Amino acid sequence: MTEAPTHNTILSKQTQLEDQTPALRPYGFSEYIGQSSVVSRLQLMIQAAQARKEGLEHVLFHGPPGLGKTSLAYVVGHELKVRVVVTSGPALERTGDLAAILTQLKARDILFIDEIHRLSRGVEEMLYPAMEDYRVDLIIGQGPMAKTTSIPLQRYTLIGATTRAGLMTAPLRDRFGAAFRLNFYDTEALSNIVLKSATRLKMDLTSDGAEVIASRSRGTPRIANRLVRRVRDYGHVHKITSIDEEVAKLALDLFEVDTYGCDPMDRTILSTLIQKFSGGPVGIETLASALSEDVGTLEDYYEPYLIQLGFIKRTPRGRVATEQAYSYLGMAYEQSEHPTLL
Ligand SMILES: Nc1ncnc2c1ncn2[C@@H]1O[C@H](COP(=O)(O)OP(=O)(O)O)[C@@H](O)[C@H]1O
Ligand SMILES: [Mg+2]
Repeated sequence: MTEAPTHNTILSKQTQLEDQTPALRPYGFSEYIGQSSVVSRLQLMIQAAQARKEGLEHVLFHGPPGLGKTSLAYVVGHELKVRVVVTSGPALERTGDLAAILTQLKARDILFIDEIHRLSRGVEEMLYPAMEDYRVDLIIGQGPMAKTTSIPLQRYTLIGATTRAGLMTAPLRDRFGAAFRLNFYDTEALSNIVLKSATRLKMDLTSDGAEVIASRSRGTPRIANRLVRRVRDYGHVHKITSIDEEVAKLALDLFEVDTYGCDPMDRTILSTLIQKFSGGPVGIETLASALSEDVGTLEDYYEPYLIQLGFIKRTPRGRVATEQAYSYLGMAYEQSEHPTLL
């Protein structure tokens, strides 16, 4: 295995929010499984930059949580053999916080800003010239004595990540050389991730067992790794050394993750949509308040997968449960309820 890159972190409180098991993170592209179209485009940009002996252009990763955006930023840092400085939109409260980080960057360093859609306006405006012209404009002093000073920056690379590309302003989005959308993983890629994690956790898992875990991971590596750990717990407690298909199924049934990868909350969302709102259309805020759930969590985490499964549709008038959602819950579907929509 390749050596772990040293991640120099200015704001360490942010990295602690990341996965609890850093050992499961991929290091180089060779360990980053799946997302082949993103990986090949990114590798091309990296190769071209290296051939020109230049830094990589700023890049943006977007897509639902847990699909590997942060991991990919570290992979890029590893491939380029550069430092990765990590921060996030909410951590950059004042322009001074950003200025302090930017002015410390060395040439080709990567600055990773997670949740970049959550930058305050002032911080975001400081980022524009910092991205485009490698310059920070600072206002020194106050009132009539105030002066603007421009500090030149090294040619660093900004990697932004967001679960909500739609919430980013156009001027910010336009300043990235490329934007990559990460998609849900197929079962084959997830099986490979699961098997790799099992090996690292010194767990004896059969390929059938891995496939069961993969197929219930809602297309998401973070969830796959979590389920691997729960299945491992199950094995430990029941003193089962080799985990096969049957054991994996028993363990995941215990944790109420079904064969679609849906958990009790997914089922509650669908049944609320169907029973309280006659299948919709209903606005996301109304649905969230009926569920006592945060709108952001619903939109970022639950909804993309339910849409992917074909259980929910987004319409201009709100969310609608599809016929598949009714049959998934074993409910009768009456199409006449939404004559104009379906
Ligand atoms: N392509 C991948 N190959 C292997 N493991 C991955 C991959 N993508 C993500 N993971 C695993 O999933 C976890 C979550 O990924 P992360 O990069 O934190 O997602 P995001 O930043 O998009 O929320 C990582 O810790 C890593 O273990
Ligand atoms: Mg992340």
